[in-house]
Amino acid sequence: MSIIHPTGKFDNGAKEYRHIEAVPLAAAMGAEIRGVQAAAIDDATFAEIEDALFRHKMIYFRDQEMTHGDQEVFSRRFGPFAEDAYTKGIEGHVNVQPLIKEADVTSAMVFGSGWHTDSPFLAQPPAISLLYGVDVPPYGGDTQWANSALAYRMLSDKMQAILETLNVHMSMKNVLATAQQSVAPDDSPIGRIAATRDAGPLPEEIAKKVRGNYHPLVRTHPKSREKALYCDKTYAVGFEGMYDDEARPLLQFLGDHITQPAFTCRLRWKPKTLALWDNRLCVHQAFNDYDGFRRELYRTTIAGETPG
Ligand code: SIN
Repeated sequence: MSIIHPTGKFDNGAKEYRHIEAVPLAAAMGAEIRGVQAAAIDDATFAEIEDALFRHKMIYFRDQEMTHGDQEVFSRRFGPFAEDAYTKGIEGHVNVQPLIKEADVTSAMVFGSGWHTDSPFLAQPPAISLLYGVDVPPYGGDTQWANSALAYRMLSDKMQAILETLNVHMSMKNVLATAQQSVAPDDSPIGRIAATRDAGPLPEEIAKKVRGNYHPLVRTHPKSREKALYCDKTYAVGFEGMYDDEARPLLQFLGDHITQPAFTCRLRWKPKTLALWDNRLCVHQAFNDYDGFRRELYRTTIAGETPG
C-alpha cells in the first residue's frame, strides 16, 4: 500500500465562527474548540459546534466543568441517547457509562482498543460518541482517530465506484473471541463478554451482535452529505455475497488505508477534557499502555440512523 502524505485534498483548516474558535489538531482531522463551556451554550453556539464536529470529525474542549448531568444535557443536543452494546450506566445517570481502569489492574485488552467505529454490528449504530476525562494517566492512555471520509476521497474514481456497490458485514465475533481467549471475566465491559466462555450457549443478546448487520461500505452522512468508508479493523468481517478468501485482502487493504498515519490525529487527555467524534466519518482506538496509572472517563453515545 502506498503511503499518502498531505496534498491539496486535505482540508482540515479552521472556519471562521462567531461563537467559538476552532484550532486544528492535525492535517487530516481533529480540532480543539475554544472559548466555550459546553455545559452553558445557546442554540447558535451549538450550531457552530455541530458544524465543527462534521468538518473536523473529532473535536475536543479543554478545562470543561462538567457534571454527569451536564454531560447528558450537552449530549442530548445532538439527539436521543443510543443503545450501548457493552457498558452499563451509573446510578442516577443510565446513559453515562463509566470507563474506569484502576492503576493496579492489568488486562490483555482495554475497552476501545483496536481501530473501530462504535457498535457497527447494530442495525442503527451510534452516530456520535462523547468522552469526558476525570482522571487520566500522566502519559499513555491517548485516543487516536482516523478520518474515513478523507480515506474515501483519496481512493481512485474506479475504486470508489467498485466499493459503492458493496455491503460490509459488521459483527462482534472477533472481539468476543479475543475477550474469551485472553481476558479474565469480571464486571468490566470486556470482562462481561469474556465471562460468556464458560456459560454454555451464547446469550441471545450477544449472539445477535455476533450475527451483526450488513451496511453500505460507502455511507453518506445524513446532514453534511459527505461520503465516508464504513469499515474498521475490529468489527468488519466480510462483504455480502463474497467468499471469505475474497473479502480478506480487501478488508486488510481498507483497514490499513483508512488508518494510515497521515489520516489520523491523536489526543493527549487531561482532566476536564471533553472529546466527541462522529462515528459515521471516522474510526478510533484506545491504547492499552498505561498500566500502573488510573484512567477514569465517562462516555455518552447518541443514536444514529440506518446507514445509507
Ligand atoms: C472508545 O472506544 O469509545 C473508548 C476510547 C478511549 O477510552 O480512549
